Amino acid sequence: MQIKDKTIVITGAARGIGRALALRFAGQGANIALLDLNAAELEAAAKQCVALGVHASAYTVDVSSETRVAAVLDQVVHDFGALDVIVNNAGIVKDALLVKVKDGEIVGKMTLQQWQAVIDVNLTGVFLCAREAAVRMIKLAKGGVIVGIAERLKLPVRYVGLGENLEDLRPFDAREFAEALFSKSESSADSASGSYAA
Ligand SMILES: NC(=O)c1ccc[n+]([C@@H]2O[C@H](COP(=O)([O-])OP(=O)(O)OC[C@H]3O[C@@H](n4cnc5c(N)ncnc54)[C@H](O)[C@@H]3O)[C@@H](O)[C@H]2O)c1
Repeated sequence: MQIKDKTIVITGAARGIGRALALRFAGQGANIALLDLNAAELEAAAKQCVALGVHASAYTVDVSSETRVAAVLDQVVHDFGALDVIVNNAGIVKDALLVKVKDGEIVGKMTLQQWQAVIDVNLTGVFLCAREAAVRMIKLAKGGVIVGIAERLKLPVRYVGLGENLEDLRPFDAREFAEALFSKSESSADSASGSYAA
């Protein structure tokens, strides 16, 4: 895709991968709408894009807010007159074990708040931004591209079970997980019946 003069919306653009993408695309002549919760860093990132000679604006938004996402994307269309690409990059990590065990005792649990925060941003946020961007792309009738950023396949999955005991808790990647399930179900009539926690 030729991105010169296209309008690209990037969520989570205040820092990290989102900011790097914004600068890369601005360097290639795309106009950039930068979205993030972090207003101060967002403004700085937008200024860096403008310094590359393109139109760029910062929009402070929580991607998990339905009303804010809709309002901000309306504002982007108003300001740029276009919306060609959205990169759903905003994401968070709450690093916690489903259940923490020490000497056979349960000493901690991932809280519902931690779980819900990740679901709100990483799933609901992506859903809302993709849906609302698609609505505006359809109305603008110029086509469009919706991009997702995801973790690679080495998932932070730990497993408990498949006949082993709790001491066997260890990092487990998706391919291993699938292979274990497959070989277990091939070799045993009762198949895999362990419990799994992401
Ligand atoms: N860094 C990595 O190694 C890596 C690897 C695989 C995938 N990813 C994914 O790439 C994306 C960016 O990663 P990163 O390392 O640059 O992350 P980061 O934490 O450096 O930046 C994420 C940005 O998203 C913003 N953000 C968080 N919640 C938000 C919300 N509710 N609304 C709007 N903005 C919000 C933050 O303010 C921040 O500026 C994430 O989705 C992450 O899961 C990162």
